[in-house]
Amino acid sequence: MSNTPLLKMEHIRKVFPGVVALDDVSLTIREGTVHALMGENGAGKSTLMKILTGVYARTEGTILWQGKELDTSSITNVLESGITMIFQELNPIRTMKVCENIYVGREPYKIRGILLDRKKIVEDTRALFEDLGITDIDPNEMVGNLTVAKMQMVEIAKAISYNAKLIIMDEPTSAISEKECQHLFRMVNNLKQRGIAFIFITHKMDEVFQISDEITIMRDGTYVGTYDAGKITHDELVRLMVGREITEMFPKEEAKITDVKLEVSGLTVPGLLEDISFQVHKGEILGFAGLMGAGRTEVMEALFGIRKISSGTIKIDGKEVQIHSPKDAIKYKIAFLTEDRRTTGCFLPLSVRDNIMVCSYDQVSNGMKKISIGKEKKVCKEQIERYAIKTPGQDQIIGNLSGGNQQKVLIARWLLTQPDIIILDEPTRGIDVGSKSEIHKMISRLAGQGVAVIMISSELPEVLGMSDRIMVMYEGKITGEVLREEANQEVIMRYASGITDEAV
Ligand SMILES: Nc1ncnc2c1ncn2[C@@H]1O[C@H](COP(=O)(O)OP(=O)(O)OP(=O)(O)O)[C@@H](O)[C@H]1O
Ligand SMILES: [Mg+2]
Repeated sequence: MSNTPLLKMEHIRKVFPGVVALDDVSLTIREGTVHALMGENGAGKSTLMKILTGVYARTEGTILWQGKELDTSSITNVLESGITMIFQELNPIRTMKVCENIYVGREPYKIRGILLDRKKIVEDTRALFEDLGITDIDPNEMVGNLTVAKMQMVEIAKAISYNAKLIIMDEPTSAISEKECQHLFRMVNNLKQRGIAFIFITHKMDEVFQISDEITIMRDGTYVGTYDAGKITHDELVRLMVGREITEMFPKEEAKITDVKLEVSGLTVPGLLEDISFQVHKGEILGFAGLMGAGRTEVMEALFGIRKISSGTIKIDGKEVQIHSPKDAIKYKIAFLTEDRRTTGCFLPLSVRDNIMVCSYDQVSNGMKKISIGKEKKVCKEQIERYAIKTPGQDQIIGNLSGGNQQKVLIARWLLTQPDIIILDEPTRGIDVGSKSEIHKMISRLAGQGVAVIMISSELPEVLGMSDRIMVMYEGKITGEVLREEANQEVIMRYASGITDEAV
């Protein structure tokens, strides 16, 4: 291994209108290592990587790649230098085949510019997959049919086909299962042996210690330090990221659980859900556990009027209700924080204010149903403060906020509707450790106010820490119901892998 670092970014500064996103940040990456980049939501991690890969131009600073100045004026140039970024929100062309996606823009031709060598594209993809030990992806499959984990594999393969020496992964494990995550890590470790370096952004602490060699911490757009992953402790890491101690991880308060608020019986969506029944009480937090694809989100979509049910009933306060659209659901004071903030959550081109207010305009209207801008701004300001949303102002386009702050905007939106029933689907995905405990406190507080809370989470400690009762799903069915006192990882995992009591 040579002494020259693979990458040296120094004194990087980036100013967006109204925001200093990065101020004097440095980052040094050595060949064949995994480097974790950590920091709270809005710390500047994604921005730093976008500057490296030529997506944004930097305001100041230098970037040395293998000892020489890197030309980041074009994305293609950076890619060809051997740096690939796999983005936080994967955005492949879904209607393309896997092999086409890998070779897009540099397709081999039989006759130049006229006759594409389709056979070669497929064969090259096959050889590439074989080399990487990817056995379960067909080069002819449509990208849109792949799971997130498989899309990531394709992206890594693509990087390797470009002879990448540095692969950047921005929150790669936030939407994949534990098993897929271990698969990804095995692949990363193998590629490390070949001298390939990785920059890995994640909010999951255990992963950082499992996968990384070094850790660079950022806070509020500044550089805190770089540490040896083997020498820093979990608590030190958190303290350096957040700048204060975080004591309570799951601050669950005792809430009074009273009457049944919502009762779902025999809910069925052909091919997806079978005979789903459960109740939630006022003041209760009902957790939904299960593996990715178990059907938890689909249950909530059916309940919220997004999916059509073929049979089953929904009762609120003991009375049967018909919910055919989200509008009906909102009328019954149900709120739904979806897991996929980019497609079903945020209105990306709109402002933070519009995104917060969109379901609550009646609260800021006067008698003539006309919206009072003054009232709207005031309510919005309160929400931004309450949920510590990091934004230069209400008029900022939500698409410009960091991933975690977009999530906070959505939470602010739904809580403003003062729901009686709230469904939270992976509420802390992409949320940093500090804000995570804030969100947990807030969920607890809601239950304390008598709201019936349904929370889906793929993080077992979160489900176990927050729920009064846990429903476990497997392949579109409920396989178990566990009370807080009886709940532990083993019990949940058993039900989540389809083992029911009858089978034991
Ligand atoms: N295109 C943009 N225009 C204006 N401000 C931006 C833009 N992109 C990022 N920012 C701001 O820069 C800061 C850093 O954002 P960045 O996305 O880099 O954070 P992050 O560390 O990746 O956070 P997260 O963990 O939430 O993904 C934030 O305050 C964000 O609002
Ligand atoms: Mg980010």
